[in-house]
Amino acid sequence: MSVAARRKNLVSPLMKILRVLAPVLFVVLLPARAAETPSRAAIASAHPLASAAGMEVLAAGGNAFDAAVAVSAALTVIVPNGSGLGGGGFWLLHRSEDRFETFIDGREKAPLAATADMYLDAAGDPVTSASREGPLAAGIPGLPAALVHMSETYGALPLSQNLAPAIRLARDGYPVYSRLHRGLQARQSVLRRSPAASAIFLIDGEVPELGHVIVQPALAGTLERLAEEGHSGFYSGPVAEALVTGARSGGGIWTLDDLASYSVIEREPIVANFNGVRALLAPPPSSGGVAIANMFQILGGYELAEHGRVAQVHLLVEAMRRAYRDRAIYLGDPDFVDVPVARLTHPFYAAGQRASIRLDRATPSENLPGFTVVAGGTQTTHFSVLDAKGNRVAGTQSLNSWFGSGYMEPETGVMLNNEMDDFSAKPGAQNLYQLVGAKANAIAPGKRMLSSMSPTILESDRGVAILGTPGGSRIISMVMLATLEWLNGADAQGMVSLPRFHHQYLPDKLFHEPDAFNEEDAAALAALGHELSVLTRLYGNMQVVTWDFETGKVQAASDPRGQGDAKVRVY
Ligand code: DON
Repeated sequence: MSVAARRKNLVSPLMKILRVLAPVLFVVLLPARAAETPSRAAIASAHPLASAAGMEVLAAGGNAFDAAVAVSAALTVIVPNGSGLGGGGFWLLHRSEDRFETFIDGREKAPLAATADMYLDAAGDPVTSASREGPLAAGIPGLPAALVHMSETYGALPLSQNLAPAIRLARDGYPVYSRLHRGLQARQSVLRRSPAASAIFLIDGEVPELGHVIVQPALAGTLERLAEEGHSGFYSGPVAEALVTGARSGGGIWTLDDLASYSVIEREPIVANFNGVRALLAPPPSSGGVAIANMFQILGGYELAEHGRVAQVHLLVEAMRRAYRDRAIYLGDPDFVDVPVARLTHPFYAAGQRASIRLDRATPSENLPGFTVVAGGTQTTHFSVLDAKGNRVAGTQSLNSWFGSGYMEPETGVMLNNEMDDFSAKPGAQNLYQLVGAKANAIAPGKRMLSSMSPTILESDRGVAILGTPGGSRIISMVMLATLEWLNGADAQGMVSLPRFHHQYLPDKLFHEPDAFNEEDAAALAALGHELSVLTRLYGNMQVVTWDFETGKVQAASDPRGQGDAKVRVY
């Protein structure tokens, strides 16, 4: 008998016993307090009106999944720079009654007419405006499909009830606030090129003042159709026809087939354990889960607590450098490329990576086997929800950069994304976030572009944390830092306000917020060979909900860098 067959023989009876015992073990092995419910609901999102939309639906008897649909939809209306019906996102779900967990992949897909070199000029150089501005930059949206799917599959209320707050906000309007104002200023020239977008967001082609009320009747109509007809209300019929006509009139390549063939995919989340925390992470086509699981494995080989601040940062940066390198080489849409998730998150693989890490010196990124690099602000939005029963949702949704492609289809009021820029236009060419990629993330018809969006749910004996943030390539490092901070005992507020630093392999720089390091630590890190680069702007807009099993306390916190709102409701 072969070794494999013998092992199988030994394993099968054991597996059978385990399978029978699983429900029993499951209950026994769970932290005692985890079975209890929080008796409180909490929502953290990037805008008070979005958090209120979620609370309204909870008050009407909805669960966390209904609330997530309401918050998601409201965000598409009131944070139009960050996400929209013309974009996509990821939603990580945990259902408390049976601990069922899933990842709803509503990522955009490349149109069926897309080609690998569609953003290269005759000389083979990337034309970045083509992948960032106008309808040619837009992938086929997944967000509307995800709203319908999440509501109908996991919600307790009808879709129309979950979309009602968003419809109201689009019809009645809301005042321009400072973050939106900043986005409008940054993207005004692109918005001006789209008559429908200008009519909604600008006044005579100029950025309106704070407080000006933005009303979006066409978008309200599209949301209403979605509420009444579900999936087909967006992906076929008049909305689909208007979107295809609009996209094509602006140089896009969408077809009715693209929309008709779009569907969300439920994927198994990645689970990683680190220092007593069970992390539920985003699988490909997000790169976040693989990178975070890999960094856990690398760091797991060190007694971090025994090192001082500089050595801790150094080791973390070396872990980031290696995880982002693998992101560039191996990660892409798992339906198109074979992403070696098991290998990249395996302890043996991390042991190999650790072999090249020196405590006394930064590893220059060019010394890691990689690929040659061709020389070479933004928005998205995250929300976290916990309901009184303990159901959890972490959702991150996007149009890619501020207002996506800047093109609004006039009849539907839908802003098209510019998510195609998240593909690798050419091996080694940088995208908007200076990320490089290769074959695994090359453009192909119907393929999903690699993402950094990393909705995450942590659980340990201590409690639960639901988190995520926008920030392009820096999303992964922000989620990693906040996770480590939670492990060190921080609460929700501590996680969102933590000063941030980031390394993404290439460019080989240690980016950091102004207050991330004191002078002495900065000098020590530079002496190790890190090239520090201070960012003039604070970055990220993290939204966190935590539930402490010991005290029963539920907390929600919204990043002080943004204008979000965190609400807790006691039942
Ligand atoms: O999916 C991604 O990785 C990007 N499109 C996310 C963009 C983003 O977070 C912009 N935020 N500042």
